Amino acid sequence: MASSAPGGVVIVGSGLIGRSWAMLFASGGFKVKLYDIEQQQITNALETIRKDLKSLEEAGSLKGSLSVEEQVSLISGCSSLQEAVEGAVHIQECVPENLELKKKIFAQLDSIVDDKVVLSSSSSCLLPSKLFASLVHVRQCLVAHPVNPPYFVPLVELVPHPETAPATVDRTHALLQKIGQCPVRLLKEVDGFALNRLQYAVISEAWRLVEDGVVSPTDLDLVMSEGLGTRYAFIGPLETMHLNAEGMSNYCDRYSEGMKRVLKTFGPIPEFSRDTVEKVNQAMCTKVPDDPEHLEARRQWRDKCLMQLSKLKRQMQPQ
Ligand code: NAI
Repeated sequence: MASSAPGGVVIVGSGLIGRSWAMLFASGGFKVKLYDIEQQQITNALETIRKDLKSLEEAGSLKGSLSVEEQVSLISGCSSLQEAVEGAVHIQECVPENLELKKKIFAQLDSIVDDKVVLSSSSSCLLPSKLFASLVHVRQCLVAHPVNPPYFVPLVELVPHPETAPATVDRTHALLQKIGQCPVRLLKEVDGFALNRLQYAVISEAWRLVEDGVVSPTDLDLVMSEGLGTRYAFIGPLETMHLNAEGMSNYCDRYSEGMKRVLKTFGPIPEFSRDTVEKVNQAMCTKVPDDPEHLEARRQWRDKCLMQLSKLKRQMQPQ
């Protein structure tokens, strides 16, 4: 039996993201209770987690220092929310992205938790001010938004409610670092958080370039996967500026006028309308037909690549 870290973690909702969180917390030695409204989902989750951990071990990508059996033994299912939260230090909500459903869950949790446990939502885009409005334990609440697949993409955006206690963010930050994730703090909430705002900015300009006939959809994707993206796997856009000149001030001196000139030519928000959707869809389907088998095979290939990349990133310690 593995010796677990003090305090347990509760996962509410044992779908795709709930399972990933369970694996990550178990890899860090935490006892995990998986709760779901559907008993079958819990059964499936426990089964899938065991299989996934075994495959990860075979691929040399199992996280943490515990064996598969030790990690599996830390995760158990629980069909009572009340029982699940007893003695928990962290509760990670992972139910579908529906504001009313999530509000209902947090109201339920609010009525049964103590004054210490952290209440955290995996929401991709619901604002903390909406999710946690009028909860008694609002100081203990925040969004911890993972990126799919969380096992290989370590970023987690921590987004506070205006009334979230700084200690709640600090504790969650420390906890996520302990399980090998890379938490970042948003100092205040904003629609789309940081990751999706950046992603939408890229999608927006990608769409315009294709729509305006500047570049084909396939070549557009190469600009990112063979160009910007390879660099961005290791350094962000701001450090890129710093390194691409003699430091940031020098970069701005040299390139700010050019950047502003180009930025002024960015058009309005694309409509993502029919003709361009068809054009892009055709190109994407030539590469990856949009039936479930081809899409799943390509996702699995993507996850394999991300697995290898995460190994490489672990080897490449920052200088
Ligand atoms: P999912 O649909 O795979 O899983 C949701 C689970 O919640 C299901 O097992 C369902 O039975 C359970 N559930 C539904 N109502 C419940 C209730 N009242 N009490 C307890 N469990 C309940 O959803 P997924 O993809 O795991 O998403 C969960 C959250 O994570 C969403 O907020 C989503 O926006 C967020 N997220 C999802 C990402 C993704 O790529 N799928 C990436 C980052 C965040």
